[in-house]
Amino acid sequence: MNYAILVNKQNLLSSDFVPEDLVITDNNENNFHNYRDPNFKPMISASILPYFKAMQQAALDAGLKEIIVDSGYRPYEYQKVVFDKFVDEVGYEEACKKVALPGSSEHQTGIAFDIAYMDNGKYQEKTSDEDPEIIWLKENSHKFGFILRYPLGKEAITGYSYERWHYRFVGVELATHLYNENITLEEYYTRLKGQPRTRITKEEDQK
Ligand code: DAL
Ligand code: ZN
Repeated sequence: MNYAILVNKQNLLSSDFVPEDLVITDNNENNFHNYRDPNFKPMISASILPYFKAMQQAALDAGLKEIIVDSGYRPYEYQKVVFDKFVDEVGYEEACKKVALPGSSEHQTGIAFDIAYMDNGKYQEKTSDEDPEIIWLKENSHKFGFILRYPLGKEAITGYSYERWHYRFVGVELATHLYNENITLEEYYTRLKGQPRTRITKEEDQK
């Protein structure tokens, strides 16, 4: 997996793309997706699990709630189920701002996920911008290789409404760069255009 991969409305994954190293992360049986599809399990690529676990532990060490993967990998077909549910609920136009069409979702990569919390053993899906966990993630996730993928104020660039819960692994070096520059992955690639592209991340170099 190229951790700097750009997946968005213009850059699609093929319908048969499935990450090879998926692992189940948490047993949050009551999550939103499990409720809608009993077979749904929160999974991410095993290669990013150590980074996620380190971030989860650092948050706990800071006195915060356990941050869990609520919705990680979503198969191409399942993304369609999610999209269609949203169309039913809010209509096509609004759904397009909130959910990706199949093939255009980072959730298919296995290196992006939505977070929720475990609060004293109780699953908590609801998040707020005032939650210390959300504030902490925004300021610290890059140290573990993650970026807030759909930030507030960047909706016209990412194509999606602000999502405080959606994080994406890009590797520590690139995540730190994007954080310091306050830019999205889209802006990063726009800036790169026309420049010699010799290397993107240390992790990618090692492949
Ligand atoms: N909510 C994000 C955009 C997705 O569906 O992938
Ligand atoms: Zn998401």
